[in-house]
Amino acid sequence: HRVLFVVSEMADYIKAGGLGDVAASLPRALRDRADMRVLIPGYREVLDRTGPIQVIGQTPAHAALPACVIAHTVLDDGLPVYVLICPELYERDGSPYVDAAGEPWADNAVRFATLSRAAAVIAAGEAGMDWTPGLLHLNDWPCALAAAYVRWSGSKASCLLTIHNLAYQGLFPASLAADLGIAEAQREALDFHGQLSFLRGGIVHADQVNTVSISYAAQITAPAEGCGLDRLLSRRAALGHLSGIVNGIDSSWDPRTDHHLPVHFSVQSCEGRDHNARHVRRAFGLPESRGPLFAVVSRLVHQKGLDLTCDVAPQIVAAGGQLVIIGGGEPQIEAQVRELARRYPGSVSAYIGFDETLARRMFAGADFLLMPSRFEPCGLSQMYAQRFGCLPIAHATGGLIDTVDDGVTGFLFNGAEADALRRCVQRAFRTFRQSGLMAAMRRAAMLRPSGWDIAGTHYLDLYQRTTEARA
Ligand code: ADP
Ligand code: GLC
Repeated sequence: HRVLFVVSEMADYIKAGGLGDVAASLPRALRDRADMRVLIPGYREVLDRTGPIQVIGQTPAHAALPACVIAHTVLDDGLPVYVLICPELYERDGSPYVDAAGEPWADNAVRFATLSRAAAVIAAGEAGMDWTPGLLHLNDWPCALAAAYVRWSGSKASCLLTIHNLAYQGLFPASLAADLGIAEAQREALDFHGQLSFLRGGIVHADQVNTVSISYAAQITAPAEGCGLDRLLSRRAALGHLSGIVNGIDSSWDPRTDHHLPVHFSVQSCEGRDHNARHVRRAFGLPESRGPLFAVVSRLVHQKGLDLTCDVAPQIVAAGGQLVIIGGGEPQIEAQVRELARRYPGSVSAYIGFDETLARRMFAGADFLLMPSRFEPCGLSQMYAQRFGCLPIAHATGGLIDTVDDGVTGFLFNGAEADALRRCVQRAFRTFRQSGLMAAMRRAAMLRPSGWDIAGTHYLDLYQRTTEARA
């Protein structure tokens, strides 16, 4: 297969969440078995970090979408990356999606329609490149529209759309349609209560749709988690066009070798964890303690249920536990977290910001990871925690159901409510006091197979099915 993996973030350059991790690891996991190449916008972080780039193609202007240049670069390990260069759209300070104040970029429709359209132009063999993909692997709303542009252009390429999070649809005013080169008759596929939904356009037009866990794939066909797209998704599921593949994690998540950790450890000898725990307590300004250390590593958004964590924190503290939080996101949740830390000095401490090294050390030192997500398409944090011997305490939803074995590799609770989380935290405290059980669970979590091998094989099968559908 010749696959163009289209994505709006990649951990090698810039990462806003788990999508960036998947983009960095999935194409690599498949490289031996498929011709994988990545297409990513030329953000400043991308251009700053690439070595020599070579211009190898261009995409023409289309309606209000500007012309772009396509450059080719190669990552350290040889993975080919195509960078879509358009300074006026991509070279600015901020995240891929929002400005420094946390507001979505005002021209996001044009920015990501341009990315989508470029993928379709490459797939049609019209970018002047000497390589043409047979399959576009699209990820989330920022490139979902590529499936529509491919169909509208009549090109033969197959499209697989992976939904990493249905809650982000890429909704824009219908009045933008003409700017995006969408004709009146083509608008219906994107229509979401009078707005344009990029994700809907992708779901309608992609040959296959998948999401990042089996449980979430089932959940999104029902109203509760369907974000208004459940009926469309059910129709696609009934035709065999919707599936779930649980993400993997890459080999950098290894407590024996991770260079971010002050001390290494392994399943056989876990003593190093204590040293990491001391390090984390010191980094967060907390005193030494014999009680359990709870951690949160999360985007601070409604999805992640931080309000439940805040509700339960007083009990954690009263029972002799400590809590460290790293995260960033919505200003009011950031404020709530800061306030919690202010209220419990010496027991709760928070770092508002993004810090990969500190996050890894937290997984390596904390006893429990709190993940009371309201919904969770897959979730990577809980798998990182498990690999590092930190037991997740998670809401039984989506990928958390598929990756946490209750009472074995972590703890699950039903219903995203503070009382349910509180009872689950009490179970964790009881387990913590039984050192034999705790050690056994820690071992089971660390040994849980979570590499990309299995997921990679499933993706190859899906690539096969996706291309056959078009042949
Ligand atoms: P989501 O993609 O919904 O944010 P995931 O669990 O799939 O959730 O992935 C989140 C990723 O981002 C994980 O790699 C997690 O460790 C990381 N992460 C989240 N917040 C922070 C932070 N403040 N600092 C460092 N890493 C973070
Ligand atoms: C999304 C989801 C998360 C998933 C990640 C990678 O950000 O919120 O659950 O793990 O994508 O697929």
